[in-house]
Amino acid sequence: ESVYLNGEWLAPEAAKVSVFDRGFLFADGIYEVVPVYHGHPFLLEDHLARLERSLAALEIANPGQAFWLDLIQQLLTRNHSQDALVYIQVTRGAEAKRSHLPQGPLQPTIFASVSAMPVHWDVPTPVKVTLLDDIRWLRCDIKSISLLGNIMLKQQAQACGALEPLLHRNGLVTEGASSNYFAVKDGAIYTAPTDHLILPGITRMWVLKLAKELAIPVHEQAFSVADLAQLDELFLTSSSREVQPIGQIDDIIIGQGGCGEITERLVHAFHASKR
Ligand code: PDD
Repeated sequence: ESVYLNGEWLAPEAAKVSVFDRGFLFADGIYEVVPVYHGHPFLLEDHLARLERSLAALEIANPGQAFWLDLIQQLLTRNHSQDALVYIQVTRGAEAKRSHLPQGPLQPTIFASVSAMPVHWDVPTPVKVTLLDDIRWLRCDIKSISLLGNIMLKQQAQACGALEPLLHRNGLVTEGASSNYFAVKDGAIYTAPTDHLILPGITRMWVLKLAKELAIPVHEQAFSVADLAQLDELFLTSSSREVQPIGQIDDIIIGQGGCGEITERLVHAFHASKR
């Protein structure tokens, strides 16, 4: 197993960064997760475009498309990866002393590694989620490594026996701690619009495209907490979970508590689109 750190290929335990790295001191950095199927990165252009937007938001220079394509290819070759998740992290870099305001442009710290893709069943087992107040900041569109809110919410969800929190702000469902949500009502799909309150998921975008191809009506419109008990189906999406049906929100059973019909069609369409 080898990981990339600032131009070097290293054994994971040999990869070390400075304690003065702004990623360590301030979580001053961004990341990206790219799924890989049969050795090929999936929707790579879209992931790299989001990486570019995250870097631009922090005013960190992007080493460029060619750099990332080469890095990811080498990472996959060196690790013989077939079905995997590529992790990329860029921090603003290390400086001589701790100072909130960055002291001039620094050499960014670039780290990349690969891990096994979780196994996905043809029709995944429905999971439970728990409704929680979205306590995060107002720039959830940036894929920041500052994930304290997400982690606290994830821990709270685990304590409730739930896979993910179902987050809400001002009465509307935003997203999960590491996923996007879709509701199904009367044959149509609803999901929060891509503004500063959610991460624009690449899987979300792909599922919207698949739904349109299947002639399922799609509304990029947030659904409300008040409507949760009346939903026909609910599912979440992410690079690691793909399309994951949800059978239960706390004590509320969604539909029959199983995988709904529209969700199942999208699960199949998603699996077919990976090949
Ligand atoms: N989750 N929302 C948040 C807050 C996330 O962290 C993620 C990604 C998503 C889904 O985005 P995408 O479809 O591009 O993975 C939404 C990590 C990377 C994961 O679970 O894979």
